[in-house]
Amino acid sequence: MIVVPVALDPPYEVRIGAGARRELARVVASLGEVRQAAVVTQGALVDAGWLEGLDPKVPFDVHLLGDGEAAKSLASVEALCRSFARDGLSRADVVVAVGGGVVSDVAGFAAASYHRGTRYVNVATSLLAQVDAAIGGKTGVNLPEGKNLVGAFWQPSGVLCDTETLSSLPEREWRCGRGEMAKYAFLGGADPDASLLALDVEEQVGRCVRIKAEVVAADETESGERMSLNYGHTLAHALEAEGLADAGAGALAHGEAVAVGLVFAALLARRLGRIDDERVALHRRVVAGFGLSAELPAGADPDRLVAAMGRDKKARHDLAFVLDGPDGVELVRGVAPEAVLATLAEMGPRP
Ligand code: GLY
Repeated sequence: MIVVPVALDPPYEVRIGAGARRELARVVASLGEVRQAAVVTQGALVDAGWLEGLDPKVPFDVHLLGDGEAAKSLASVEALCRSFARDGLSRADVVVAVGGGVVSDVAGFAAASYHRGTRYVNVATSLLAQVDAAIGGKTGVNLPEGKNLVGAFWQPSGVLCDTETLSSLPEREWRCGRGEMAKYAFLGGADPDASLLALDVEEQVGRCVRIKAEVVAADETESGERMSLNYGHTLAHALEAEGLADAGAGALAHGEAVAVGLVFAALLARRLGRIDDERVALHRRVVAGFGLSAELPAGADPDRLVAAMGRDKKARHDLAFVLDGPDGVELVRGVAPEAVLATLAEMGPRP
């Protein structure tokens, strides 16, 4: 089992390995007086058998969320909090989120809101959640006006990344996780490490979690360094906003959009004189090494993408990107729209 501490106040641990979900009782016991638990999960995870062996060793109720982004709603949070109340969950008890990013985002936000803050533990079952979403306390839901517009920073009391659960992941979900993993190859201060590709999955997750834990400990609420975790995400979010990602079978999944965004960010950084050809080639190699494409999807309209990137949460009435450079990956504000359009033209777009 790989154990990664997250040095926040209070600190917590991320435990990574096959069967990690079976450590839930130990995590719950470490929280002191817990009389009951609320397990939040999805039907597919119950059907796959991942609740077997998951025992908090206190009485618990299971609460099911719907699937996909549609479940990330205020209505879901209300329904969860109402059932917590009906079950008599107290502020000293614990919410256990068992699933991928949708479950940890929604259950985490419900925990942050219920009794103005109830502890929660993430049992992360998707690659994306294990390398990113379950760690660092970003919780929240979508509004019809946009993704993740309502939420809170609310740290889990522990994270269990059970690599056994990855065996039931559909290929698309693997690709989603790999897109986020590719981003970590360029974070953490070390040389971009193509050897990340050569590690087994437990070590890959461990490597990514160590980087994320360090970034989050340095900047819990994303006032600076944590923005680096958005590497590749500005274009990815624009593709999502334009309905070119996460919109159905033909569209890109989030991690696939991040892969395109990473190569776009490298090309933009080169255009701005921040990195050289070799570094761009390294981005392409890492993305391809994770089996992901760097092509803009068909139908991408450069002007609309630039407008969507201007609405990114990093932007302050300008265009702002996380870009590679001589000092590593950092936020760059005030990027000229012409440079962005020229970079998109360099990538495609396909008609
Ligand atoms: N997923 C990016 C972050 O946690 O900051």
